[in-house]
This record gives sequence, C-alpha cells and structure tokens, in this order.
Amino acid sequence: MGHKMSSSGIPPVVPDSLISADDGRRYWSGVEPDVNGMLGGFPAVSRIDLRSSGSFLAKLGLGRTKGAKNVKRALEGGAGIGRITEGLLLDVAESVDIVEPIAKFTAALEGRAGVGRVYNVGLEDWRPEDGVAYDLVWNQWCLGHLTDLQLVAYLKRCAAALSVGEDGKTKGVVVVKENLSTTTVDLFDEMDSSVTRRDETFRRIFEDAGLSIVRTELQNGFPHDLYPVRMYALKPKTT
Ligand SMILES: C[S@@+](CC[C@H](N)C(=O)[O-])C[C@H]1O[C@@H](n2cnc3c(N)ncnc32)[C@H](O)[C@@H]1O
Repeated sequence: MGHKMSSSGIPPVVPDSLISADDGRRYWSGVEPDVNGMLGGFPAVSRIDLRSSGSFLAKLGLGRTKGAKNVKRALEGGAGIGRITEGLLLDVAESVDIVEPIAKFTAALEGRAGVGRVYNVGLEDWRPEDGVAYDLVWNQWCLGHLTDLQLVAYLKRCAAALSVGEDGKTKGVVVVKENLSTTTVDLFDEMDSSVTRRDETFRRIFEDAGLSIVRTELQNGFPHDLYPVRMYALKPKTT
C-alpha cells in the first residue's frame, strides 16, 4: 500500500490493522436492536437515507417494472435489524438473504415474508451458497469492520455470486454505501473497532477486487456534523 515512514522513522500504524472482530462484536452486542441503535443515535436520518437509496436503485434500473419487483434475489450484508431490508429491499426484491453476525438483531427477521436465508456470521466468514445468483447485494455502514484484505476478498465473493443476463453479461450489482473520511488518512474508531475509509481507499479496494464503479453519488440532506456518505454501484470489470 506504499505507506510512508513517519519523520520519527517508525512506520505509521495502518488503521485497518487495528480492527478487532471480537471488539466489534462486543460493541454491537451491547447495542439495542432498534433504528436508534443501528444509526448511533441519529434515527432521524433513516427516512432520507432510504429515500435516496431507493432513487439510486431506480437509476440503476432496479425497483419495480409495471408494479412488479424486478429484483429476484438480493443480499443485505451487515444488515443489523434489517432497517434497509424492511424499508427498501423488500419493496424491490422478491427475496432478501441477510448476513449479520449479531443474532439478536436478526431474531425478528426470521420467518418474515420475503426474508430468505439469515447468516449469523461476519462478512469475512460468509460464503455464498453454491449456484446462488444475486441481482443486488447491498452493504451499508458495516464494511469498516473488515480489513482492506478481507473487504477485497468479500467483494470478490459477491462479484462471483451476481446474476448473469441472457446476453452473458453480469446483470447483478453490488452497492456499497459508507461514511467517508475527509482527512488524508483512513480513521480507526476505537468505540466499535471499525475504520472510516477515504474515497480513494474504497476505489483502490474496488480495483483490487476487479470491480468497476458503474454509478456513484454522494448522499444529500444529512446533518452537517455527520461524515459524508457515498453510494457506489459496482460490477465486475469486463476485459
Ligand atoms: C451501523 S450498523 C448498520 C446496520 C445496517 N446496515 C443499517 O444501515 O441499518 C452496523 C452493523 O454491522 C454489523 N457488523 C459488525 N461487524 C460485522 C462484520 N464483521 N460483518 C458484517 N456485519 C458486521 C453490526 O453488528 C451492525 O449490525
């Protein structure tokens, strides 16, 4: 990654090397299973977040065609209580599989109409079922729990599990919606043991995963004291 030595001659700490899965799980285990808990005390942003995400999906051609859902199968990574699955994905997708390591968050989702498989594992340990094909994989506010290398490997697994159209081209899309660091470095957060990455770090990770950005937008309308949030729609590179 080309890290420079600091002026003291001691190599700077790489922020993602500080991530501890155990510390992250410990933090989230103590959080209430509600929208306030999921959004760190900013539940009011959920509505505008979901609305912007819905229009982002619509621009990708994902939503409803003549009233019918045009996403057959979706996956939500790091879903928490399923705020996005319930508030957006189930509106566009016939079924949604869930990955979320904290089982108490997903308890109320089990058996809910439209919810398929629930995997109570971290994204770093998740493997798609053989033969599965996702039209959409949504990842939001959870990828900071993976190291850069884990994230590259996870995105590659997502890419391999995307649906393919009749023309043989990848039809499915991976969406990443995350906070961005606006400083010159990625930021480690001790509280939940996660990293807030810069836009350029995400772009390098997507490149390493063999993905290209087919659409990207900044989230508008959030309070100014929150990090900027960017949505990226990704597809495997065509060679
Ligand atoms: C800020 S919440 C966001 C939940 C949901 N994506 C949303 O936007 O409402 C972060 C979620 O990431 C989950 N998480 C923590 N470590 C994870 C990991 N290694 N893989 C997947 N999810 C993880 C937490 O348990 C928590 O549910």
